[in-house]
Amino acid sequence: MSESGTTPAARFTLDPAFAIGDVHPRVYGSFVEHLGRCVYTGVYEPGHPAADADGLRQDVLELVRELGVTTVRYPGGNFVSGYRWEDSVGPREERPTRLDLAWRTTETNEFGLREFMDFCAKTGIEPMMAVNLGTRGVEDALRLLEYANHPDGTELSDRRVAHGDKEPYGIKMWCLGNEMDGPWQIGHKTAEEYGRLAAETARAMRMIEPDLELVACGSSGSGIETFAAWEATVLEATYDLVDHISLHAYYEEIDGDRDSFLASAVDLEHFIEAVVATCDHVGARLKSKKRINLSCDEWNVWYQKRPNPHQVEDWQVAPRLLEDVYSVTDAVVFGSLLIALLRHADRVTAASLAQLVNVIAPIMTEPGGPAWRQTTFYPFAQASAYGRGRVLRVEVDSPTYPTARFGDVPLLHATAVTDEETGAVTVFAVNRGQTRALPLTIDLRGLGAHTLAEHLVLADSDPEATNTADRPDRVTPHSATGTTVSDGVLHAELEPLSWNMIRLTSRQD
Ligand code: AHR
Repeated sequence: MSESGTTPAARFTLDPAFAIGDVHPRVYGSFVEHLGRCVYTGVYEPGHPAADADGLRQDVLELVRELGVTTVRYPGGNFVSGYRWEDSVGPREERPTRLDLAWRTTETNEFGLREFMDFCAKTGIEPMMAVNLGTRGVEDALRLLEYANHPDGTELSDRRVAHGDKEPYGIKMWCLGNEMDGPWQIGHKTAEEYGRLAAETARAMRMIEPDLELVACGSSGSGIETFAAWEATVLEATYDLVDHISLHAYYEEIDGDRDSFLASAVDLEHFIEAVVATCDHVGARLKSKKRINLSCDEWNVWYQKRPNPHQVEDWQVAPRLLEDVYSVTDAVVFGSLLIALLRHADRVTAASLAQLVNVIAPIMTEPGGPAWRQTTFYPFAQASAYGRGRVLRVEVDSPTYPTARFGDVPLLHATAVTDEETGAVTVFAVNRGQTRALPLTIDLRGLGAHTLAEHLVLADSDPEATNTADRPDRVTPHSATGTTVSDGVLHAELEPLSWNMIRLTSRQD
């Protein structure tokens, strides 16, 4: 900040000659786990006035489409490590009710693989299926794959046909377990044990379908003691057999340190770069030309340290778990995490916002009642709608602010995506400053003539503002004033603590 109290401008230059990579559509994925009310009274609630004949809530599906979700990871999460897929198919009245040890709840199996595939078909979403490498292993993964993807003529594929699905599901992307590095995981393993099991499972699954895209479990967080050593060991065992390694990243404000919380993406970018370095190190040691990409298949703001405000008994069906209510501040951090993923589009080729409905989610519902958008809905929907194409290299020259956890951090966090067909460019930018507007100057001369299409902002005079069932539209994006483009230079003022989308269209003179 200057002595007079005004913040100096942040600036960067956009030039199509300097690109990072193409955004893979799977970066706009999400996650549905059998956890709390994500499935039951979330996406699925027979008897709800908006439910269709299959029990899927059409009001929720409408919001899912608006959100622009491309893939959904299923059925967990920690849940998958005790998952018995065969319980979740066939006539509903014959499906068993079981204990879910991961969340100490009761699983009725009323919603299962069939219903999930129905949900995907109705929303145009690509399924991303996880296999159970906790209580189960190679044989079970093969059986599930055969049930799901083999056309017919075998006991398992004919079982699917008998269950009413003649066409195979054609699930392409498969996660080899979930967070197997975490001691909380059912069937938790050492890196050596997991690496071997993942390799054996991948090899066998590829004997059925060589072209599957497989994700090995990386670390459940950058803070876990085994981080990086885990990835190296697992990849040594699986390098030729998998396509992706996963990373999971959750952030929350700790002890009121908002400045550090607003800089969470510094940690995420470092995490991503460390995983990339580890992948490439293993590749070099194996003298392989193959490149392993990253699937950030759980990411979000998650208040893990806050007590659950809802009364929950053990072994309830679909209790209220992890129902975080997101503020404007959370949405700004969330947007910044999205920016971090896009800034690594060359290696982050899949990501799953954890999760989709009710459980740390952008969409909330009430049983028998409404569905609404949380604050975090907006950055995701805008990025999915306009952040398609090629990510341009953005080297920010920005004033900084001090943080306890990350040292001096730039006030501006930004990325830009160009649609090569139309020449349109969309800038996504966050002002991390809590009290002052941040002047922004973007040199567009390398792009040719562009005009401003819109500048939308998510910010509020109350940074704690949230959307609720009673006030579902308390926080929505608004248009910025005063943003201009002239002589190839854009000038804007980013409101304090704000998420911004600035769209530029190519001028056809
Ligand atoms: O998304 C909630 C939980 O977080 C998932 O079940 C687990 O994989 C992670 O620890």
